[in-house]
Amino acid sequence: MARRSTQFICQSCGAVTAKWQGRCESCGEWNTIVEEQSGGGIGGGPGRGSRTKGRVVPLVGLSGETKEAPRIESKVAELDRVTGGGFVRGSALLVGGDPGIGKSTLLIQAAAALAQLGHATVYISGEESIAQVRLRAERLGLAQAPVQLAAETSVEDILATLEAGPAPALLILDSVQTLWTDTADSPPGTVTQVRASAQAMVRYAKKNGTTLVLVGHVTKDGQIAGPRVVEHMVDAVLYFEGDGAHQYRILRSVKNRFGATDEIGVFEMTGKGLAQVANPSALFLGDRTTNAPGAAVFAGLEGSRPLLIEIQALVAASSLGTPRRAVIGWDSARLSMILAVLEARCGVRFSQHDVYLNVAGGLKINEPGADLAVAAALVSSLSGLALPANCVYFGEVSLSGAIRPVAQAPARLKEAQKLGFEQAYCPDGNLKDKTAKGFSVTGLPELGDLVVKLSARAGASPSD
Ligand code: TYD
Ligand code: MG
Repeated sequence: MARRSTQFICQSCGAVTAKWQGRCESCGEWNTIVEEQSGGGIGGGPGRGSRTKGRVVPLVGLSGETKEAPRIESKVAELDRVTGGGFVRGSALLVGGDPGIGKSTLLIQAAAALAQLGHATVYISGEESIAQVRLRAERLGLAQAPVQLAAETSVEDILATLEAGPAPALLILDSVQTLWTDTADSPPGTVTQVRASAQAMVRYAKKNGTTLVLVGHVTKDGQIAGPRVVEHMVDAVLYFEGDGAHQYRILRSVKNRFGATDEIGVFEMTGKGLAQVANPSALFLGDRTTNAPGAAVFAGLEGSRPLLIEIQALVAASSLGTPRRAVIGWDSARLSMILAVLEARCGVRFSQHDVYLNVAGGLKINEPGADLAVAAALVSSLSGLALPANCVYFGEVSLSGAIRPVAQAPARLKEAQKLGFEQAYCPDGNLKDKTAKGFSVTGLPELGDLVVKLSARAGASPSD
């Protein structure tokens, strides 16, 4: 019999400590450490003392027959793109996101799409009653889809139900935080319960070739176990993002054992559920004002998809000893770096100015390729002269002031041309990539060259 003891577990990252602390040393979150009982194996696995002798497993070589993982496509192109070409049978996915962002809507739509294609689909809701789920399905026009539905939270009951019939192709559990199992002592929602429940369900999925989708809420208050503890148990982690002010949502893969990460799918929340956005650049540039200083269009890349995004800068005279720098949607350290390079290498001074940077549409950019567009927006705002409306920018700026080439320049340029842009400023090193006719591409070896070009324009025709 395993000894029962008390553990202190961080509800955000799952780190275990011997005593209670106000702040988790592992993830740095405050007030996330909760006392939990640990009995049997940690996380509800099989008890350590239950088996004395192990089973012999065959050892094999690295070479051998390899099969493409069998996939089931939902035919929802934006979803299939993020999963890497459809759900892989026998794999487990975690779909995380803030409450209310649209996870249940997305998954009921995916479930209905698969069910209509003839795949057995089970949707188990632990948060909403059957009536609520039905109401949503009706609103989405999906009430006729042959999805099998249950409102249940007990892992044992769910497994018994599933084992009574043939294994479904797709099993959706909404959400992992509501699941609980008898094998763990802690209350539902704690790390121990979430981990033990997820483990039992993943085991079922692997054994039966079912695709398991776990929904997880991301909360900061530490009351509900963050889905991070489940992340290492699943094959793919998708995050559903967006902000309250905008109707579009982005599904992003942050881990995928069967496909590329950083791939995004773009959806728009409408009165009739989530609609796919096939041309996100047009959406993000939709309400652009073209003649304001400080706005530059960045030809970016999200996963394998080119995306045009407007970067807005505001440079205003500061009355503070230490001027303000505020950034939304980009890395603030990177902004400081670009400001420093502009000062040190190009003689453009911001030390007396407050600088605000915003990525339009609430998008978050991680790519260093946005450096050149940021620099252009900053210089434009400082000089008070709008950049040409038909131009895109991309390129990474190094500390020496050199502009370094970025990946997939032709795809970026093609996207820009498709959306009616006529010129691009890019790294010199990307010029060798073939570009289309009727589109002028200017290669810039140094950041100083951009500043020279922009001030030459200013001198020539400020109203252009
Ligand atoms: P939901 O899928 O319940 O979010 P989650 O499961 O991530 O908590 O979505 C909730 C929000 O979506 C809610 O604020 C209403 C909105 N919504 C629409 O705008 N249109 C729709 O057709 C549906 C079903 C929801
Ligand atoms: Mg929900």
